[in-house]
Amino acid sequence: MSGIVAYTGSSEAAEILIEGLSRLEYRGYDSVGIAVLGPSGKIVRKRCSDKSRRLRDLLQDGVPPGNTAIGHTRWATHGRPSNENAHPHTSCDGKIAVVHNGIIENYRDLKEDLIEKGHKFTSETDTEVIAHLMEDMLKKTSDLREALALTKKKLVGSYAIALISADHPGEIVAAIKNSPLIIGISDEGNFIVSDLPAILPYTKKVIFLEDGDTAHLTPDKLKIYEESGSKIERKIETISWSPLLAEKQGYKHFMLKEIFEQQRAVQETLMGRLQVEKGQVVFENFKPDPEKIKNIKRIVLIGCGTAYHACLVGKFLIEDFIKIPCEADIASEFRYRKPLINKETFVIAISQSGETADTLAALREAAALGAYTGAICNVIDSSLAREADEIIYTHAGPEISIASTKVFTSQLTALYLLMLRLGNITGSIKPEEAIKISEELIRLPLKIKQILDSQQDRIEEISKKHFKQKNFLFLGRNINYPIALEGALKLKETSYIHAEGSPAGELKHGPIALVDSELPVVIISTEGCVYDKVASTIEEVLTREGRVILLATQGDERVLQFTEDIIWIPPTLELFTPLLNVVPLQLLSYHIARLLGCDIDQPRNLTKAVTVE
Ligand code: G6P
Repeated sequence: MSGIVAYTGSSEAAEILIEGLSRLEYRGYDSVGIAVLGPSGKIVRKRCSDKSRRLRDLLQDGVPPGNTAIGHTRWATHGRPSNENAHPHTSCDGKIAVVHNGIIENYRDLKEDLIEKGHKFTSETDTEVIAHLMEDMLKKTSDLREALALTKKKLVGSYAIALISADHPGEIVAAIKNSPLIIGISDEGNFIVSDLPAILPYTKKVIFLEDGDTAHLTPDKLKIYEESGSKIERKIETISWSPLLAEKQGYKHFMLKEIFEQQRAVQETLMGRLQVEKGQVVFENFKPDPEKIKNIKRIVLIGCGTAYHACLVGKFLIEDFIKIPCEADIASEFRYRKPLINKETFVIAISQSGETADTLAALREAAALGAYTGAICNVIDSSLAREADEIIYTHAGPEISIASTKVFTSQLTALYLLMLRLGNITGSIKPEEAIKISEELIRLPLKIKQILDSQQDRIEEISKKHFKQKNFLFLGRNINYPIALEGALKLKETSYIHAEGSPAGELKHGPIALVDSELPVVIISTEGCVYDKVASTIEEVLTREGRVILLATQGDERVLQFTEDIIWIPPTLELFTPLLNVVPLQLLSYHIARLLGCDIDQPRNLTKAVTVE
């Protein structure tokens, strides 16, 4: 996902932008650029599409002086990654510079018109049309924000735009549609960014722009206008995240730091919500009318990637404990398969970013069909959070590594809480059972710590033994089948090793053909209702000389006969095994990727939030 940082104030803008953009690197990018409006009244651009070079190298031949600037990390959608396609883009006269996230869907038509009028294009991007349109609009009005409002009327698609003009020193204007921008307010100037970590070192006072807003910033003033064009006051919020949370704090990679942060992330997601002695859950935002919940006939959970695996676990929880039919669906499939949805369906989207295009579109489709909608999100005030009828936040803090870890366990935690809440309302979970579940739920953070403390050396040893393999198989059954999928996804994402996750019972219907004396097969065989069935699967793999790696319950001596590569998991209730089992699998992927020398926090071709279809 591309990132935007813009600043106008009393400090040197280029330095601030480079610092801010470096905090957005985690989102994945293929090129980077800044445009600074200097004291000479000219805009100076620096752009680079060589990701291996550090951002600071952009400034190696001198920092362009100036107090107003815009910057961008680009994840290519229209036009290959190159210096020419890197943002900011400028108008023919070089007086307008623009950065943009999203897609201008009608850019081809606009480009043709503009070329006919004599405009010269220098990139293959959709973004460049905005700079040329602005050049024309500024002939009609000298007001920069008004010119942007006129430009907006021509654009079809989704966008977050920030731009500067050589004729408007100290000013930045911005506009959004289906793509977020946040204003940061400080004594040293004002900011516009696409993501909070970029401004955390400078200010905690922020305004989240709303869909359709345009904003006009100067070093000491800001004005916001809603879609209709009227001026509006938006609430200033204070962010509690500390900038340290967005830094590595001595860990070699963000992924490792985030794996180790899971104890806290799960704890914070539970905090203030779980009343253990009563077995009850209270959410800050999700306070539905009990009658509405009692009328729900079906629940559909939707998400992409790792979030989809959380949906799969949720399906087991809801059907088993709430006794309401529940489906888990991949958002990109759901949105096009003409789903049968009505007002008795509760559709819940799960997403770390809350900006994934397919998940948002699926939620909108569900809402259009009359569904009652909800979202489980990590990013406060994200599009999904704003659009869903109900919102449950995961309180994992910013997740920087592209491969999701602490947010996944926080999503599972939110699902356990949701399950308890629905059980409280519908009466499907009896009070004594709810108390028993709550008492164990509150112990999970400590159990995560136990796994990390006691098993990390063993996991590293197992990684050393197998990291050179080209293929891996992950097997799990019942509520742990989604964790086999997640284990495989994590390994693929971080180490580029081909990995397949499969329900253990499906082994004999295909994947068994892959098993030979080379293939590492990770099998989740912690205690639960399918324990004996999984034991048969282990035998099937061993008969074909597969190299078995087991996840087993601490103290279960029966598994010692199978292999020496065993990762021990503290005993827990079966419904909580997915949350504990996924932790060592994340660490296994991390160590394998590290041994292979991979770019762990920003794996090739991946991005943190896929905001385009
Ligand atoms: C991208 C990320 C995945 C993530 C998926 C869904 O593909 O690389 O790690 O699981 O998007 O993202 P979301 O923000 O909706 O959870």
